[in-house]
Amino acid sequence: MLELGARLAAVLAVGDVVAFTGDLGAGKTTLSRGIIQALCGDIEVPSPTYTIVQTYGCEAFELWHCDLYRLDRPDDIFELGLFEAMEDCVCLIEWPDRMGEHLINSALTIDIQFDGDGRMITLNGTDIWEKRLDNV
Ligand SMILES: Nc1ncnc2c1ncn2[C@@H]1O[C@H](COP(=O)(O)OP(=O)(O)O)[C@@H](O)[C@H]1O
Ligand SMILES: [Mg+2]
Repeated sequence: MLELGARLAAVLAVGDVVAFTGDLGAGKTTLSRGIIQALCGDIEVPSPTYTIVQTYGCEAFELWHCDLYRLDRPDDIFELGLFEAMEDCVCLIEWPDRMGEHLINSALTIDIQFDGDGRMITLNGTDIWEKRLDNV
């Protein structure tokens, strides 16, 4: 998960949104941690379960790591500032279903499913993502 995160991190730029789906314990935070540590160094990356948002000042951009599990209503993302952050920063979003239709269409969705002791990971995105992920 950390290795895959590092490979994904290499292609991320301002305005990118990556949404992680999959059950509790699937590995959404671990994969996010791989991305964040590749960009920000070997720092601690706690799960934003309670804070909902954790921000990181990476070299090229600000990165938001969100866990929306505890979001009450989709419209609460406006108060959080997440709507703007999807344009101005790089956003990694766990439980994106909680924000309903506010997730931008250009998001890359990464679904993680349990598969024995391992995980099955499915990436879904627009054609632009397909091109960008060619070398990942
Ligand atoms: N590919 C994997 N194989 C085995 N264990 C994993 C894998 N990815 C994550 N884990 C472990 O599963 C647990 C839950 O992972 P976490 O990333 O917090 O899940 P989520 O954020 O989806 O709830 C952690 O102990 C983590 O180390
Ligand atoms: Mg998590």
